Amino acid sequence: MTAKQEIETLKQSLHEYDHLYYVKNSPIISDQEYDALLRRLEELEAAHPECVSPDSPTQRVGGKVDERFKAVVHPAPMLSLDNTYNVDEVRAFHQRVLRGLPDIPEDDIEYVVELKFDGLAVALTYEDGLLVSGATRGDGLQGEDITANLRTLRSVPLKIDTEPFKRIEVRGEVFMPKKEFERINAKREAEGETPFANPRNAAAGALRLLDPAITAERRLDIFIYGVGFLSRNPFQTHYELQEKLSALRFPVNEHNRLCKNFESALALIEEFRDKREELDYEVDGLVIQLNSLAYRKKLGATSKFPRWAVAYKYEAEQAVSEIMDIVCQVGRTGSITPVAELRPVFVSGSTVSRATLHNEDEIKRKDIRVGDQVVIEKAGEIIPQVVRVIESSKERGAPFKMPTACPECQAPIYRAESEAVWRCVNSACPAQLKERLRYFASRKAMDIDHLGPAVIEQLVDSGQVKNFSDLYILKKDEVASLERLADKSAQNLIEEIAKSKSAGLSRLLHGLGVRHVGQRTAIVLARRFRSLDKLQETPYDELEKIDEIGPVIAESLRAFLDRDTNREEMERLRQLGILMEEQGDVPDSGGLLEGKQFVLTGTLSQLTREEAKEKIQSLGGRVTSTVTQKTDYLVAGASAGSKLEKAQKLGIQILDEGALQKLLQSG
Ligand code: IVH
Repeated sequence: MTAKQEIETLKQSLHEYDHLYYVKNSPIISDQEYDALLRRLEELEAAHPECVSPDSPTQRVGGKVDERFKAVVHPAPMLSLDNTYNVDEVRAFHQRVLRGLPDIPEDDIEYVVELKFDGLAVALTYEDGLLVSGATRGDGLQGEDITANLRTLRSVPLKIDTEPFKRIEVRGEVFMPKKEFERINAKREAEGETPFANPRNAAAGALRLLDPAITAERRLDIFIYGVGFLSRNPFQTHYELQEKLSALRFPVNEHNRLCKNFESALALIEEFRDKREELDYEVDGLVIQLNSLAYRKKLGATSKFPRWAVAYKYEAEQAVSEIMDIVCQVGRTGSITPVAELRPVFVSGSTVSRATLHNEDEIKRKDIRVGDQVVIEKAGEIIPQVVRVIESSKERGAPFKMPTACPECQAPIYRAESEAVWRCVNSACPAQLKERLRYFASRKAMDIDHLGPAVIEQLVDSGQVKNFSDLYILKKDEVASLERLADKSAQNLIEEIAKSKSAGLSRLLHGLGVRHVGQRTAIVLARRFRSLDKLQETPYDELEKIDEIGPVIAESLRAFLDRDTNREEMERLRQLGILMEEQGDVPDSGGLLEGKQFVLTGTLSQLTREEAKEKIQSLGGRVTSTVTQKTDYLVAGASAGSKLEKAQKLGIQILDEGALQKLLQSG
């Protein structure tokens, strides 16, 4: 086989595997095999640059986005849909359809019902089978060229079968899966960034980034729901058209349904009401549309909406509350976030008494003031938000004003030009310090049990702790004098702090809370350098080249390591016996058993205790010696005794050796 032929074969196989993995959710090869094939293709292309084509899977990331996105005129306007909120309104829509088609018997009217995805509408154009352009909806007539970013979505085909169409423009909705939203937000929080309010905002941000490599990291996805332009249209119905799109390997949603009559379309509203919660993407309603393309043509559109379709919107669970106060919270990195204190209300499964107001601009836009009656809902069913003011009371407060100084330490605050958040300039600000200590002590960092928010609060307010190293010189008697801390707890706390000295480099690096250095990055660094000294010696240029570390992390890290105050603090920690090296393997983060606590008891036959412990740890789990409420699993070998009894009493899951093996193998 010539190199050219091998490249073609590899491209075809990789496209097939991408489709099976990202569209069909049924991969047939392992990630390792996939990577090996991709690497082979990269090698061949490097040796034969003349054979590199834009539809190659190696070319998903690479194109450039202009500083300003170019305008793209849509071949046909991208309309929006009329919204309905109850069954009566949907019936009224059906009646309008019937009136608009007076010669058609009702029996002939079929509908297609689809999920309405809560993301961003985009249009993708293919010419002679190749993806040539991708655009946002914009104002409906004209959008922005975001081709380079859309190419990074693995479910977007770079190439389709050319046979049926010379030119086709498909339309769909880009979204961020819920799991991905949680992952990105956790990462942002760990790195001191403001989390996104909901998956839709996160997706919108990712689509408009100037660097496609970063868009690629956000793992967006897309469903294609229709076409805007076809060079030849052999289809009678929407459903037929969608089947064709699916055959062309576009990601068409599996829940689309053809309904032979209006009543069966209506029934789907109830069917999907609960089902949608189980999906890994946000669905805010259903789209109910005529199936026949000829009838659609007859009905036409208003300037905004087609007359042949309507959206039914599920109400996000909402509640009414009152703004009791607006306070400003200072985060670990000094970010100052306004938060509404609410009259407690129950919404989407829990009582809410606070809701983030995000930032100054957001409060202004919604004109939220103390005393107002407001609508609350949970963004993405997770983060409580103030949707809008329904009634502003006569005694409503003055418009919200950002404080001019840090509410905790009165130091000046500043707002960078490109940011919406204000930050406190004082790195010794007690509020920041408390948050930093909380982060330092957290499970995935130094893992200091008993060092909770209440204890930290007292240690900082009494002036006993001004930095991390002060924790390690605390004496039991000093701690015991804190309010509500029994002698025994003081002893436990001191022991836990001492134990954390040997947590190792990756946990220490994570706990220090360097901006952009979260758990994963800390692990990468610890694996690579093994000691803080080695890391300290490494110049920016070298850091920046490391896989998974880029210029942003390298710069932040260097700035941290070069600051005198930080160097002094590291030195104090070292003197106090904090381990600055990594001993043994650094476990992967996000392992199957991440955050799970195990207790081993009795005799195992296939493994030694030590082996079992290492395997559990390599998957991110922890092994402790006593059974408590916090224990997730008790592994019981032969002749297990009192621990087994205690675990049974506490209702802790019990694994025999076989079950443990299964669990370990599944990881
Ligand atoms: S069909 C004429 N189908 O909802 C417009 N739209 O409010 C026909 N959307 O801009 C659109 N899921 O961004 C259609 N399954 C779906 C959809 C969907 C989400 C969005 C789309 C559109 C907006 C209309």
